[in-house]
Amino acid sequence: MKNLGILLSGRGSNFEAIARNVEAGKIPAKIAVVVSNREDAPGLARARALKLEARFISSQGKGREEYDREVVRVLQQLHVDLVCLAGFMRILSPYFVRAFPRRILNIHPGLLPAFPGLDAQKQALDYGVKFTGCTVHIVDEGVDTGPIVCQAVVPVYDEDTVDSLSARILEEEHRIYTEAICLMLEDRIRIDGRRVLLRK
Ligand code: GAR
Repeated sequence: MKNLGILLSGRGSNFEAIARNVEAGKIPAKIAVVVSNREDAPGLARARALKLEARFISSQGKGREEYDREVVRVLQQLHVDLVCLAGFMRILSPYFVRAFPRRILNIHPGLLPAFPGLDAQKQALDYGVKFTGCTVHIVDEGVDTGPIVCQAVVPVYDEDTVDSLSARILEEEHRIYTEAICLMLEDRIRIDGRRVLLRK
């Protein structure tokens, strides 16, 4: 059985969706650890309530790589095979990315390469696009730049606010994150340059 390590900073709804699907047997893995850089992250409390290994690792007074070394140590100690960023609001250092080559996934609330970085849903509304969505990608050393594993498209309506649009996107996030995790765990993809292709 493969081990997942989940990193989060906030609400943790993507983590909860993953946990539900692990529990339901839809994801062939176990959650070995949930790590947060925020002590008060609701997702961390939820992980504790679910009796999962949950660790708060403070970043206070630490450099980016120093912090990442600490997180990587925990993930390695617990034999994590696949790292899932689920609303983890920190940029990973090259050290972290190299410690788990092609074994880190991130979910982004926009159709990359459009609207990378923070507040992707607000960026989409402000730009005036008629469709946006979400992306699960493999993390490389850039910000939101790695090879794309799954995407889903979501319409933007005239009445939308950032909240209503975010909620519509979030539903799709929960669905495609599980899909992408399964593709990775079951080794059903191969990477050709930037392209993530299904193995024949
Ligand atoms: C999600 O919308 C996720 O896509 C986004 O943060 C939210 C976390 O929600 N991530 C990013 O913006 C990463 N740049 P959650 O804590 O309920 O899963």
